[in-house]
Amino acid sequence: MGSPAKRVLRYEVAMPVDAFLADLSAVLPERALVREQERVAPWLTDWRGRWTGASKALLEPGTTEEVAIIVRLSGEHRVGLVPQGGNTSMVGGATPPADGDAVLLSLRRMTRVRALEAGSAIVEAGVILADLHAAAAASGQRFPLTLGARGSATVGGLIATNAGGTQVLRFGTMRAQVLGLEAVIAGGLVHDGLGGLKKDNRGTSLDQLLIGSEGTLGIVTAARLRLIPAIAERGVAWVGLDSAEAAWSLLGQLEEASERVEGFELVPAECLASVLDHVPGTRSPLEQTHRWNALIEVTAGRGEPEPPTATLERLLAPALESGRVADAVIAGSEAQAEALWKLRDSISEAERKRGPAAQHDISVPPAVMARFMTDAATRVEHAFPGTRAFGYGHLGDGNVHFHVRAPAASSRDWAESGEGKAVSRLVHDLVTDSGGSISAEHGIGQMKKDELARLASPARLQALRAIKQAMDPRGIFNPGKLVD
Ligand code: FAD
Ligand code: MLT
Ligand code: ZN
Repeated sequence: MGSPAKRVLRYEVAMPVDAFLADLSAVLPERALVREQERVAPWLTDWRGRWTGASKALLEPGTTEEVAIIVRLSGEHRVGLVPQGGNTSMVGGATPPADGDAVLLSLRRMTRVRALEAGSAIVEAGVILADLHAAAAASGQRFPLTLGARGSATVGGLIATNAGGTQVLRFGTMRAQVLGLEAVIAGGLVHDGLGGLKKDNRGTSLDQLLIGSEGTLGIVTAARLRLIPAIAERGVAWVGLDSAEAAWSLLGQLEEASERVEGFELVPAECLASVLDHVPGTRSPLEQTHRWNALIEVTAGRGEPEPPTATLERLLAPALESGRVADAVIAGSEAQAEALWKLRDSISEAERKRGPAAQHDISVPPAVMARFMTDAATRVEHAFPGTRAFGYGHLGDGNVHFHVRAPAASSRDWAESGEGKAVSRLVHDLVTDSGGSISAEHGIGQMKKDELARLASPARLQALRAIKQAMDPRGIFNPGKLVD
């Protein structure tokens, strides 16, 4: 008696997706609806390999109008859409749920640079960050945001996560680069904010609501982004330090002496060793191993009297003399500068290859981060014997990636185990007690949804849920991410 009822239930659950896809196939061009599972499969697992979802198809619209049709029909059928750009999310944000009830919506075919002017560019959501850098450079300008995944991450993903990266110190996060958005919201309505208005106070800003909303409120289809004049030259240095506190105080001195410190990235000995072990073509920049390292970038615009390498020499000499910096090397060519940046940008890849770890993307007030990292590492290693904890990354922004490596011989999915989760809860508790954030730049996605619900203030949760309910009454945008 029980099994026929179960069959009926399964049939009813499967039907909305099938009916949605059938309706889409009648109105979308063939290339925009991919049903072959071998073409869908590569996009079902996240970059870290922690989540794998299911999707009966891959939607690949080429225009905003096609996105609008998809969103309107998905609302009518109440079928979830999982927006995806480069699929480099660190929090499973672009991975569909495993039940197959939602459909992947890739923006990767929308790659047009619609306009490029002095001071701004209008680009579509699927434009890859490295391509945006190249387009800006070709016009004598630059787009002042970069990160290790620039070869894959897209404008839409960067906006949806309010991405940070290694130039936030001087230029801010993605939010500071967005001058206007085009997006498709519930019902398939198109919001056009690309006009380039400097002032616009028609109530709450839709652009600002969408930035950092992780695809849960609408689909970004294009953006007007800020461009700034190209730099003439950059100087890059790698320094060895005895403590994270010394790194923080060095940054303060550098910023006091120069307005052109663009990058200051902290690299502990563990991360450097991991990169040297796992990333071919890398070598240690300093002869000795130091407990901490910092990668520093200083730039110069056209017509500036002092070359940036000379600025670095001038700034670092007293620190070396006084022993506040243990050792330092300044890149003598662009190739050497690239090699130093490769050491920093390869940390995620090297750590992924190295073995299981629980990753945390945290911020606390910048001035207390150095102390926080040391104290938190001691607390974690004491509470969970055999683990190794350290932070790396954007020290100047008060944001580090706090990794806790699993004890030897732990399974690949240790971070998802009881112990791995307990480690993350402890780290997040310590962050919250310090007035910090459990997601500084990667977002919440599916990875931190429970932790957000556990630790966010009632005010934050109420507002996030109310906005979600108002903007997405049918629950179609990125189901299962950020908040329910
Ligand atoms: P995806 O991973 O495809 O999607 C990310 C989120 O955005 C998902 O929730 C997705 O649903 C949503 N989304 C994607 N496109 C759209 C759209 N058009 N409209 C609405 N929602 C959309 N992040 C940092 O902030 N700083 C770093 O320094 C940094 N370094 C990284 C280094 C490496 C090696 C890697 C792998 C990742 C790094 N990241 C970093 C994380 C990641 O690159 C960023 O989150 C990036 O913004 C994601 O872009 P994407 O196109 O890959 O988006
Ligand atoms: C980085 O800064 O390298 C990243 O945001 C990625 C990471 O967390 O490893
Ligand atoms: Zn980062």
